[in-house]
Amino acid sequence: MGAAMSGPQTEGAYKKDHRLESFWDTWSDLSISDFYNKVGSYVGNNFYEKYEEDIKLFKSIHLDSFRTSIQWTRLMDQNQKLNPEGAAFYHKVCACARENDIELFMNLYHFDMPAYLFARGGWTSREVVEAYAAYARTAFREFGKEIRCWFTFNEPIVEPDQEYRHGAWYPFVKDARQGMQVQYHISLAHSLAVREFNKAKEEGYMLPDAQIGLINAFAPPYTKENPSPEDLEAVRMTDGIQNRWWLDLCMSGTLPKDVLDTLTEYGLAPEMRPGDEEILKCGRVDWLGFNYYQPNRVQAPLTKTDEAGYPKFADPYIWPERKMNIYRGWEIYPKGIYDFGMKMKNEYPDMKFFISENGMGVEHEDRFRSEDGEIQDDYRIEFVEDHLKWVMKAVEEGANCVGYHYWGVIDNWSWSNAFKNRYGFIEVDLMNNYTRRLKKSAHWIKSLIEQRDKGDN
Ligand code: BG6
Repeated sequence: MGAAMSGPQTEGAYKKDHRLESFWDTWSDLSISDFYNKVGSYVGNNFYEKYEEDIKLFKSIHLDSFRTSIQWTRLMDQNQKLNPEGAAFYHKVCACARENDIELFMNLYHFDMPAYLFARGGWTSREVVEAYAAYARTAFREFGKEIRCWFTFNEPIVEPDQEYRHGAWYPFVKDARQGMQVQYHISLAHSLAVREFNKAKEEGYMLPDAQIGLINAFAPPYTKENPSPEDLEAVRMTDGIQNRWWLDLCMSGTLPKDVLDTLTEYGLAPEMRPGDEEILKCGRVDWLGFNYYQPNRVQAPLTKTDEAGYPKFADPYIWPERKMNIYRGWEIYPKGIYDFGMKMKNEYPDMKFFISENGMGVEHEDRFRSEDGEIQDDYRIEFVEDHLKWVMKAVEEGANCVGYHYWGVIDNWSWSNAFKNRYGFIEVDLMNNYTRRLKKSAHWIKSLIEQRDKGDN
């Protein structure tokens, strides 16, 4: 049991100790109004200064582990050499986790491309793929003896979707072909990083039991109750691009043939170079993280092409019985976590996984403050409890699920939503020097873990 967060959403200190600019900082500089309440990427929740207090708080509520990420912009300089000041910060975080006897899971990339590489094409460029592999190599060699659980990417599906297919995030591109190229390049980057990990391990830089994984939002796809063949085809391609693409890469070092065939048929296949197959083969991992917030309900596309004229594979389907988190606009469907567990059991039985993110973001939580000042977030307790029940059912029925991380343990900055929706078990008071305060859910999770340790559940 543990919880997750990320470097770019918590650290702040965006210009401190020679940290480079990220593409989020570029976007914030260019158009601050795109961010909720005009709060850009600069602030985080001040984890950079408060990491000791935070890690002690995580331990005080009995978490066994927590995940954060190294910021590429903090660890490396513009010549792709180690930034010693950035490295010193992450060494301090590792030491603090060790002293508090809480396991630190470290992810290498959480949507946070350095601006100078973004200017060279970001994930559309092969040069950036190579630069990522060099960064991963440096990180493994620098922290190999301090971290056991490593991850190459968090949700590698998000940047192709948000930045290049749907145009929701800077640079607002709506180009399905470019989206596939970006997805492909991230797959190569992941595979090269795993290759670097294995090499570093062979050469004695890593702990002997170090593990490498990938974390994705493997949202289970659903369609209508009585689907047409076209609806089922929409499910096949949605599952193919969002889930099987990464699952196959991580399991067998290949990409799903049926998906590549369909992409070729529609002129959307990424450009591949001779030798790439060998690189992809290195993409096999030790385990996977499954971020789950909402199911992916789709139906046959209502129009054949999107607004840019590219072929479409699916359109959203609104389930009449859906229950919503109205603040985030996401459906709440706890059973999805079980369905994914069963898919893993049936289709990828040898791969262990854990729930790496699951959580509920709520706006204006101040409304729920009791007289003694504590946020009474019963909705969050109910949300986690409902999901945990389905996790337990999946485990009982044979899913190889080894743990659960809540997102985000402490209120953090959430991309263009900034601090609109709060996710934390721990509150951050933005008006009062980022003061931390436990919410009701923090006490609840603490007592749940106590019961587990006593063998009560
Ligand atoms: C996940 C991401 O997709 O969802 C996190 O890994 C993100 O970075 C979380 O914060 C919640 O989504 P949002 O958009 O509400 O912050």
